[in-house]
Amino acid sequence: MSLLASLFSKQKKHRVGHHMVLNDLKVPKHLAIIMDGNGRWAKKRHLPRVAGHKQGMETVKTVTKLASHAGVQVLTVYAFSTENWSRPQDEVSFLMKLPVTFFDTFVPELIKENVRVETIGDIDALPASTKKAVLDAKEQTGKNTGMVLNFALNYGGQTEIIEAAQALATEVQQGTLTPEAITKEAFAAKLTTGFLGDLADPDLIIRTSGEERLSNFLPFQAAYSEFYFTPVLWPDFDQEQFELALDAYTKRDRRFGKVK
Ligand code: FPP
Repeated sequence: MSLLASLFSKQKKHRVGHHMVLNDLKVPKHLAIIMDGNGRWAKKRHLPRVAGHKQGMETVKTVTKLASHAGVQVLTVYAFSTENWSRPQDEVSFLMKLPVTFFDTFVPELIKENVRVETIGDIDALPASTKKAVLDAKEQTGKNTGMVLNFALNYGGQTEIIEAAQALATEVQQGTLTPEAITKEAFAAKLTTGFLGDLADPDLIIRTSGEERLSNFLPFQAAYSEFYFTPVLWPDFDQEQFELALDAYTKRDRRFGKVK
């Protein structure tokens, strides 16, 4: 039996400080994932790139359940960046259809798992059918009280920061806010993750496929995040890989700039 499976079977979840602990595993409250390597996964198999995205979607389902069972409170997945529009048109249109397929097949399980769907990013600019699938899934899971499955869809981190600055500047101009009142908390509240409150900042960011960069993903919120990079391609990221990532996080010493 695998490590997590044996831990789950013992049902030994308890809280230590801020963290949910599964026996000796420290579980990130907010786990964020840059799901990279779908194209290379497909290429290795002489398949079209979109076959990698389709398999990547299945991995999202697997990891959603693993994270929820482990006690993760927010799982943010980078599904589509504002830069992804410049991919070949047939790939973009395939990626836009994925949320429709994903929610069509997975919402009943999300309800069973008590998972609530949320999004960050500009969903108004998505094709109408994609936007509808996303809004329907949010509504259908809106009353769930367990893990938040947060899709970054048409999301760009620098734009998010600029728009927060614009919103705050407007309030200053209108005289409803003083520049001194623009604290970290006031700024964070204007970001697209504002609704997550004190869970907005990821504790752990996983990036698959061997690339080691942030790619405009949660640049403000990642200030103190731990990073876990693995050469494994996203469609191959399975329970064993999930356990390895959580195990690595357990061993990290997070000091937030302080001395212990
Ligand atoms: C990066 O791999 C992946 C993406 C840009 C898309 C991520 C989307 C999914 C994993 C499916 C999302 C699922 C839902 C439910 C919306 P890449 O194409 O950049 O891979 P490469 O670097 O090997 O070419």
